[in-house]
Amino acid sequence: MSASSAALRFPKDFHWGYATASAQVEGSIDQDGRAPSIWDTFSRLPNKTLDGTDTTVTTDTYVQWRGDIELMKSYGVNSHRLSLSWSRIIPLGGKDDPVNQAGIDWYREYLKALVDAGIVSHLTLFHWDLPQALEDRYKGFLSRDIVADFERYARVCFESFGDLVRDWFTINEPNVFSMMGYLFGSHAPGRTSNREKSAEGDSQREPFLVGHNLLLCHASAVKSYREEFKQKQGGQIGLVVNMLWGEPLDDSAENLTAADEFMAQSSGWFIEPVVFGDYPPSSRKIFEGHLPKFSAEDSALVKGSCDFLGINHYSTFYIKRRTTPAEPGVPWTILHPAVELGIHDKHGNEIGPVGGVNFVRIVPWGFGKLLDWTWKKYQLPIYITENGAVCPNENDIPFPDVLDDHFRIEYLTKYADQVAMAIQRGVPVKSHLMWALTDNFEWQEGHTARFGVTYIDYEDDCKRYPKKSAAVMKEYYRSRIE
Ligand code: BGC
Repeated sequence: MSASSAALRFPKDFHWGYATASAQVEGSIDQDGRAPSIWDTFSRLPNKTLDGTDTTVTTDTYVQWRGDIELMKSYGVNSHRLSLSWSRIIPLGGKDDPVNQAGIDWYREYLKALVDAGIVSHLTLFHWDLPQALEDRYKGFLSRDIVADFERYARVCFESFGDLVRDWFTINEPNVFSMMGYLFGSHAPGRTSNREKSAEGDSQREPFLVGHNLLLCHASAVKSYREEFKQKQGGQIGLVVNMLWGEPLDDSAENLTAADEFMAQSSGWFIEPVVFGDYPPSSRKIFEGHLPKFSAEDSALVKGSCDFLGINHYSTFYIKRRTTPAEPGVPWTILHPAVELGIHDKHGNEIGPVGGVNFVRIVPWGFGKLLDWTWKKYQLPIYITENGAVCPNENDIPFPDVLDDHFRIEYLTKYADQVAMAIQRGVPVKSHLMWALTDNFEWQEGHTARFGVTYIDYEDDCKRYPKKSAAVMKEYYRSRIE
């Protein structure tokens, strides 16, 4: 860390810590009345995860959660982001389906223990694990029926946990959920036009429809929170969007416009409706006929439905105008078919060192630009809800050498510096929640992508071992929070 890093400061009320998500850590998928989620079903199908692992055990947090709170205390954090499993709370998911008291009791115990430990919870209602029953009943987020069911689920959560939680997040990364689940079919529910992967799906249409219904779910939950709970509980509520930074490859007019359009679609697809009440004008043009229209009533419901913006940020790409037709199936085409994402600058230099997953490179300056751009454009307080990296070949490094995670340390400290510098410039960044508390079930990567500041020994009862980064970040924040 440079001398200038040591001089950086964070305000007294700054929230920092680590994040998790229910399907990625809990396991115990048939305990105490919990019913299956779409990720239980999907991850069990052949060849859906890289190493054949599924959601059955993951990091066994349903059993080992007390130890995790002790771990967090030892890491010095003041916050933790976690998500609720909808099918633990309402096993069949629907608005007239029974609530599972055992599920509520388990989360209450966990959330109370966090309060007792002096750790603030940032609670996400939906981090991708939809009750399977709703997928079976009406195809989940493809149907508008989901809106009333989500709204009731949210209300049950506000009622049950609102005395323990002030910072609510409705939906994690609607952009990634729609793309991965309905364009590529590589996440649950696995729908795609690629018939080698799935018998059903329409990659051109379904991601946009699902995205639209996700926005209506989010906005209905917010409405109910604001009307029935906000005043007495004194909390706030927002949405979490995955945001890349797209840096124009050069300052030619065509690449500047390409980068603008890329940011409008990749981030604005969900942020513009919640801020301005409609999809970005450039996306409306590009995806003509695919993006659903908001009725006046829906637009009014969605507009202004965030008290703050949650940002999951991992990396930066160079953007240029595409000169050849987009290959169908290339991950980023839905983010904009007429742009190309690159990792080399105009002189051929790589944008930053790459870690163990190809979508994360260390590009701290891109994060700084993203924070400035987001604040300027959307004027909402910002919560960084995820940010993290995997070390090169991390899954192949033998224990205990793997605990010396200097690539992650470089990434996290440099990204934290960017947060402090943005705050100095007047950008209201309120939290830095890093991904992740422990190695976990990384969706289609199974257990192979280790994002944790804690190593999990999957062969030995999911024993936890702190990596060096946990101690470095503890000292980093201890010495910089006012
Ligand atoms: C998701 C996490 C995921 C992480 C790393 C984010 O898109 O919200 O659930 O584990 O990225 O891949």
